[in-house]
Amino acid sequence: MKLKRWLAASAVVLATAAVAGTPATASHPVDPAQQSLRTLGLRHDLYIGTAVDMAALADTADPLYRATVSKEFSTVTAENVMKWESLEPTRGTYNWGPADELIAFAKRNNQRVRGHVLVWQNQLPAWLTTGVNDGTISTTELRDILRNHIATVVKHFKGKIWQWDVVNEAVSDPWDTPSTLHYKGFWAEHLGPGYIADAFRWARAADPNALLFYNDYNIEAFGSGNPADDKTQFVFDMAKALLRDRVPIDGIGSQGHLGTQYGNYDTLQVAAALKRFAGLGLATAFTEVDVRSQMTAGVLAGDSNEINPRLQASAGNYSVLLRACLADRHCLSFTVWGFTDKHSWVPTWFTDPPEGLATIYDENYQPKRAYQEMKADLIYSGPPYVLPRVPQKPRR
Ligand code: XIL
Repeated sequence: MKLKRWLAASAVVLATAAVAGTPATASHPVDPAQQSLRTLGLRHDLYIGTAVDMAALADTADPLYRATVSKEFSTVTAENVMKWESLEPTRGTYNWGPADELIAFAKRNNQRVRGHVLVWQNQLPAWLTTGVNDGTISTTELRDILRNHIATVVKHFKGKIWQWDVVNEAVSDPWDTPSTLHYKGFWAEHLGPGYIADAFRWARAADPNALLFYNDYNIEAFGSGNPADDKTQFVFDMAKALLRDRVPIDGIGSQGHLGTQYGNYDTLQVAAALKRFAGLGLATAFTEVDVRSQMTAGVLAGDSNEINPRLQASAGNYSVLLRACLADRHCLSFTVWGFTDKHSWVPTWFTDPPEGLATIYDENYQPKRAYQEMKADLIYSGPPYVLPRVPQKPRR
């Protein structure tokens, strides 16, 4: 049965390939290396995604951006336009335009949409943070505002979102103060950690069919196993407690922002972490993968001795995350946070020291080694260890 499904998925690849290009015949099989990431992902029912920058998508002078989003990806995430500051810049006045455009684009291109993000301490509108800080918005009112925001946004996109990032980056890091891991940021400070369970319940009430995710970074692998310093363990314990309390959480999104200077993880470690989350009955997804490198003087001067090992290490890390995802049938999607170095948040955000080279295409839309390795991982995998995804049912 499992093998049959896998063969059926492979047949889809051949059929899709025949439509897209030269027809495949027994004597001239389609070269899988010529297939898109999205087509190759389909062999495993795995959705391959990207964050989308709406300005780049609309830029007629940059047609390759738009063409690549539709050709290579089967799921899209709004890089910014579904964040609170973009949706409700003025209190009570919603600006749905750009987000609706993305939804329409996805529909035309037969893509699923990850909703990002309902509750996060960053990119909040000024009216909200200022109101809370100057005391004109009370705690009780703040809770109502959050409930209303979630209900309004989730209802607006009802039926159009596959996975929602309901709560994003709620847990501190070992370098924060205090260093003992804790719930951090605006929402925890003002409402206490109970806002997390509330947010999932409110999101579920507004859309019974969307999959509801908790999303965070630095949770790709387990560390010491002590939740005081192991963020993955902290998030695992949180998820377990939410499930115990019958909170409707369906998945854990692991962002996957890596850097080649850190060494990072091996595939088996990451696969083991995904399997532990799946063991709780949760789906998983890589939601924001990019692998950045330091832009040393040598890199900036074009020295291949410095550039090549970085491109190689970046490709290796993409591959680690993708193979781990393939290895677990509950890992539903693999989304990169931008696909070209021409439009990546990394050079703007990581400036000291400067970092870059984080995506799978260079600034001229030439596929990098990371892109090729992702394809190879999708091509050279299958039964018995890589099997089609198991769809996740939304928890009531
Ligand atoms: C980033 C965007 O890529 C930038 O354009 C924006 O200026 C800041 O936010 N984790 C997340 C994403 O969940 O929303 C962030 O996106 C990157 C880190």
